[in-house]
Amino acid sequence: MTAIQKPVVAKREAPKAEVNPTVSRSTQTETIKPTKERTVSVFSPPVFNFAANSFAQSVSNEYKHASPKRIKLDNSRVQVPSIVKPKQDKPRPPAIVTKPRVINIEFPNKQKSGFKLLIRPKHEPSIKKQKQGIEVLSTSNTKRITKSISVDDVEYVEKVKHAIKQVLPKPDYDDGSLGPVILRLAWHCCATYNKFTGNGGSNGSTMRFVPEITDDGNSGLDIARSALEPIKQKFPDITYSDLWTLAGKISIQEMGGPKIPWRCGRVDCIDDRYVPPNGRLPFAYKNANHIRETFGRMGFNDRETVSLLGAHGLGRCHKRFSGWEGKWTENPTSFSNDFYKVLLDEEWSLGTVPETGKEQYYNKDKSLIMLNTDIELIRDPHFLHFVKLYSQHQATFFQDFANAFGKLLELGIERDSNGNVLPKNEFY
Ligand code: HEM
Repeated sequence: MTAIQKPVVAKREAPKAEVNPTVSRSTQTETIKPTKERTVSVFSPPVFNFAANSFAQSVSNEYKHASPKRIKLDNSRVQVPSIVKPKQDKPRPPAIVTKPRVINIEFPNKQKSGFKLLIRPKHEPSIKKQKQGIEVLSTSNTKRITKSISVDDVEYVEKVKHAIKQVLPKPDYDDGSLGPVILRLAWHCCATYNKFTGNGGSNGSTMRFVPEITDDGNSGLDIARSALEPIKQKFPDITYSDLWTLAGKISIQEMGGPKIPWRCGRVDCIDDRYVPPNGRLPFAYKNANHIRETFGRMGFNDRETVSLLGAHGLGRCHKRFSGWEGKWTENPTSFSNDFYKVLLDEEWSLGTVPETGKEQYYNKDKSLIMLNTDIELIRDPHFLHFVKLYSQHQATFFQDFANAFGKLLELGIERDSNGNVLPKNEFY
C-alpha cells in the first residue's frame, strides 16, 4: 500500500539553486580579454573560473594520479573566415569568427594530458546568435567530425562497444559503476529535443558547449563525458554524439537491462550556435503536468514516459550536483522494475536534505528516496496505471523501456533508406 503522509502540493520553488560552486552561471557571460600568454593556476583561476574548474574536475576523474597543475593560455586572436554555410531560407550575414583560444593542460610529470580546452570568445556583433562557447576536445581530434562512421562499419562499432564496457566498472565511485551516470548523459543529450521546432536532441553533441554544458540539470555529467573521452581519442572516427548515445545503450545492457536499438551516423556540430536553450530538461520539483508537457514535447505518450522513468531504479542523487541526495532502490546498478515496486510498496514522507534544503521523499527507514516527479507518477491516475503494470510485469517494462529509449536516442535524426543520417546543413 502506498501512503503519502503529506498532502500533495505542487511545489513551486524559485529557480534551482546553484549547488556546484565550480559552475557559476555568471561565468557564462564573463568577458575574456585577450592578453599575452600566461599561466593560471587551475585551483584559483581569476578569469577562467568556470572553464578551468570544470575542466580540471573532468580531467582529474580520469587522471587522479596526476592532477593538472597549470593551464597555459594561448590568447592569440586571429580573424578567420567562418566556415558556416548560409542557411538556404535565411541567408546569414558574412560571418567572421574569432579563432578560439586554446588551453593546454600540463601535468606534474610534464606530459601533456592530450586534452585541450577551446574557449570561443564572446559573439561578434554581426553574429547575433553566436555565444561564447567552451568545448572540451582531445588534441587528437581538433578537427571536429561532421560525419560519423557508416552504419556498415560494424567492426569499428564493436571495438568501441568493447572499450565502453571496460570503463563502466569503477569500484571507488558511488555504487561501483559509472553505468548510471553514463546512462544519464545519454538521456540528457537527447532530452533537449523539441518536436515542434525540430531542434535539440543527441545529433550535434551540443553538450560540448555552454549554455548546455552549464545547465544546472547537467551538473555532474562531466564525470561521464571525461570517462568516455579516452575512448574518443582511441576511436576518433566515432562522433561524440554517437559515442555518448552508444555508451547509454551499453550501460543499460551491462547493468542487466534490455537490448536497446541503436544506429550510428550522428554528427558533431562545429560550433555552439545550435545549442538549445537551458530549461528543456525536466525539473524534479514539478508536477505531473510538467512531466507530461516535457515528455510530450519530445514526442512521448504517458506509457513511454512512465517506462523511461523506470531508469530511476538505477544510480542516485548527489547533493553536490542536484542538491537531492540518495538512491531510489536497493540495487542501483542492476536494471529491473524495482523502481515501480518500491514506489508502490514503501511509505513515503516529505523531508529535507539537511545540507541543501531541497525537499524529497524518504521511505520509513530513510534508506531510499523519491523526487517529487517520481511521486507524481502515483498521484496521477494515468501514470499510476502504468506504474502498476510495470511493477507486476518486468518483461513488459523491459520491452517498453527498450522501445522508448531507442526512440529517445533517435529524436531529431532523419535517416535515408540505408539508415545513414541525412545531413543537417546548419551543423557545418
Ligand atoms: C521527470 C523526469 C526526470 C527528472 C526530473 C529527473 C531528475 C533527476 C535528478 C535530479 C537526478 C539526480 C542527479 C544527481 O544529483 O546526480 C537524476 C538522476 C538520474 N536520472 Fe533522472 N530524471 C528524470 C528522468 C530520467 C530519465 C527518463 C532517465 C533515463 C531514461 C533518467 C536517468 C537517471 C539516472 C540513471 C540517474 C542517476 C545518475 C547517477 O547515478 O549519477 N532520469 N535524475
